Amino acid sequence: MNGKLLVNTYMEWKESEYGKGDIACQSCHMPGRRHLFRGIHDPDMVKSGVTFDVESNAGVDRVGAKLRITNSGVGHYFPTYVTPLVVIKGFLIGARGKILKGTLKEAVIGRKVTLDLSKELFDTRIPPFKSHEFDYGVKRSVKAERLVFEVWVFPDEFYNRFFESAVKRRDPSMNMKRKELKEALKNTSGSSYLLFRREFPLKELLAGVH
Ligand code: HEC
Repeated sequence: MNGKLLVNTYMEWKESEYGKGDIACQSCHMPGRRHLFRGIHDPDMVKSGVTFDVESNAGVDRVGAKLRITNSGVGHYFPTYVTPLVVIKGFLIGARGKILKGTLKEAVIGRKVTLDLSKELFDTRIPPFKSHEFDYGVKRSVKAERLVFEVWVFPDEFYNRFFESAVKRRDPSMNMKRKELKEALKNTSGSSYLLFRREFPLKELLAGVH
């Protein structure tokens, strides 16, 4: 698809510093020969592989900061499959902690493909030791007190879309009972988790700005 294999974990690893340095899959997925095989559903495993840093880029009438997400310890692309999506959110909150209207910006890390696997919609995954920069900026407003960055992981985004559409279409070719489909949908829609969240008082972000 789009000149790449649907699953290309081995080549992603082989062409990276890990593959070149013979740091095997097992060293991360089977530490101490234990068959853990933890992956994208495990927040601690994912945290062990990504690093976040934030840098203010506020201006005179602009509130802004860059969130850099680095693939610092995943032995292949982050994420490696087409099934998960990672959603980055930036927004401003006021004194009561509510999201201020018009300040929410989002970006997505992943490789999104159509349900029939005929087309790749985008591929923003992060190769080993590379970063994704989320450049957040909005006009300064009096009500804003803090800037918030959140990163959410939807490990089953593709499956979720798939089951949702199957339930809707009542697809007779799907060899699954409706009850089972609904059960599957419930599992895939409930698997998301918050990977990262940090709040920055605007006073701090604007400290160097005159
Ligand atoms: C340096 C550590 C490291 C190495 C080496 C590594 N992985 Fe991973 N792997 C991770 C981390 C961390 C994740 C979770 C984040 C993600 O999904 O990208 C992961 C996720 C995965 C997933 C996704 C599983 C899921 O839950 O969807 C697969 C499949 C996988 N790895 C296979 C491999 C294979 C095959 C190799 C060797 C060719 C390999 N990994 C080498 C760290 C590593």
